[in-house]
Amino acid sequence: MACLGEDLLGTVNRLQDLVFNTIGTDSGLDLPQIVVVGSQSSGKSSVLENIVGRDFLPRGTGIVTRRPLILQLINIPDDAEENPFNTVVAPPGGQDQGSTQEYAEFLHQPGRRFYDFAEVRREIEAETARIAGNNKGINRQPINLKVYSPHVLSLTLVDLPGLTKIPIGDQPTDIEKQTRNLISEYIAKPNSIILAVSPANVDLVNSEALKLARQVDPQGKRTIGVLTKIDLMDHGTNALEILQGRVYPLKLGFIGVVNRSQQDIQTNKTLQDALKSEQDFFRHHPAYRNMAHRCGTQFLAKSLNTILMHHIRERLPDIKARLNTLMGQTQQELASYGDMHFSGKEHRGSLILQLMTRFASSFISSIDGTSSEIST
Ligand code: GDP
Ligand code: NA
Ligand code: MG
Repeated sequence: MACLGEDLLGTVNRLQDLVFNTIGTDSGLDLPQIVVVGSQSSGKSSVLENIVGRDFLPRGTGIVTRRPLILQLINIPDDAEENPFNTVVAPPGGQDQGSTQEYAEFLHQPGRRFYDFAEVRREIEAETARIAGNNKGINRQPINLKVYSPHVLSLTLVDLPGLTKIPIGDQPTDIEKQTRNLISEYIAKPNSIILAVSPANVDLVNSEALKLARQVDPQGKRTIGVLTKIDLMDHGTNALEILQGRVYPLKLGFIGVVNRSQQDIQTNKTLQDALKSEQDFFRHHPAYRNMAHRCGTQFLAKSLNTILMHHIRERLPDIKARLNTLMGQTQQELASYGDMHFSGKEHRGSLILQLMTRFASSFISSIDGTSSEIST
């Protein structure tokens, strides 16, 4: 049931917040998320922007994504008119800032709402430079961004630096190894769904994304293939066999997409127009028109939402057990402080415990409330 699922995702998102805000990411509490991997320029950022329906990711040549970006999409009800998926509504002021309700918030700037997504991009750039420096190095400390919108499906996505073979400019010589390690760390977690992005105009056997995914998910159980640049394939060739799952075995399959080309971006083609042309492309293409309903960004977003939901339900018993352990540990830690008056670390411990207790009881009851639906 959709509303039940949204509740579950909402709860997981709140838990994720709590973890990031208080106990850090080394708590052993790995929450379900979708991790985007692929080589540089394979179309990762384009796919993410299409799913969000917004231009907000930094662009440029070389490694642009230099810190992990943990992006929580949160669906909020639209009390204005019904809108189709991901469309942009002009605000009453007439400025091109999209729906008045849509906004973004960074964890490192709590309470500040960004309504202008160009500003979101600038903040990602500034925050990247602040921690990872101005050269082309990467840093493993994530940036946490939430996007609240009536036009998104609730999802948690992680954007990672793309794989590069050859260091450019003043990049460290071991940049490939660093990037590989960072990606592997994220996708090794059993709670991660791997969104393996491969360009359709490059032979699939050369896909870095699939090579990496196979190392941590050899049976292809939690990897979903995304085939970008289908419009750029050689004339007379098509990706039908790949999309039908007859070339590379992935249980979750492959979904083909057409993102904006470099020229589309230069001529300021809107994401809305891009989604429309993507649909037209698949509907009218002789090879894809019979499977057009299973192609494109909208289908990808819906599939991700469903997959994430099933995945979360499958992992619930484990998450619940870890949560209990974590609470036990915090309780013990707190007890070890004795009855001394609270200050500094002790105070933090007490605060965490309060938060966790309050949260965990509602989390566990929401799990118990939905556990009967796990197999649906
Ligand atoms: P990333 O490095 O993996 O994040 O790749 P980007 O999303 O930045 O895309 C790299 C370049 O490929 C950009 O110029 C995009 O416009 C272009 N691109 C991405 N996907 C497609 C696609 O499906 N079709 C076409 N024609 N161009 C694409
Ligand atoms: Na790739
Ligand atoms: Mg990118």
